Amino acid sequence: MRRARQYLNVHSFGVNIKDFLGDGTDGAVWATTNSTAVKVFERPGGYFNERDTYQRLKEFGFTESIEGFWVPEMHGYDDDLMVVEMDFIQSPPYIIDFAKVRIDRPPDFSEETLSDLEVKGQSLFGEDWGRVKLLMATLESIQIYYLDPNASNIVLRPRDTQ
Ligand SMILES: Nc1ncnc2c1ncn2[C@@H]1O[C@H](COP(=O)(O)OP(=O)(O)O)[C@@H](O)[C@H]1O
Ligand SMILES: [Mg+2]
Repeated sequence: MRRARQYLNVHSFGVNIKDFLGDGTDGAVWATTNSTAVKVFERPGGYFNERDTYQRLKEFGFTESIEGFWVPEMHGYDDDLMVVEMDFIQSPPYIIDFAKVRIDRPPDFSEETLSDLEVKGQSLFGEDWGRVKLLMATLESIQIYYLDPNASNIVLRPRDTQ
């Protein structure tokens, strides 16, 4: 929270932290009074993956949606504080969290790993797995390899109807 506050002081003076949105293995996220979300990273690897992915998405015009999923647009970042500021996402379907991507280097998965991923995807997303795979294929077309398709990062429907 200290780093989130510091970020806002430097980059968006007058904007404040509103609510804590959540955390995970890579960082913690707060909503701001400016309809943005501020993500504070634990490690440089995750930070640079996410910053560079949002830049790549912007380069290719994916600033609002991709393959029918809402995606945040990045509004700012700070390399020293390891903070990314992005749109606050209101409702599904959406994709967030690019901390675990690989950029420009396709993973060299074995046949076995690929079939494990298929089974895992089916069980996590059920009938939606096809849409999730299409989304990941579109990301791959701009050399973003999304390695963390879980149900809190790629959300297809409101929680109570899942
Ligand atoms: N742009 C956003 N808009 C709304 N909620 C968000 C946003 N980014 C993150 N969150 C919330 O914060 C949680 C953690 O964010 P996430 O980017 O997945 O962090 P981690 O990399 O640590 O898993 C998400 O599951 C989601 O509930
Ligand atoms: Mg996450």
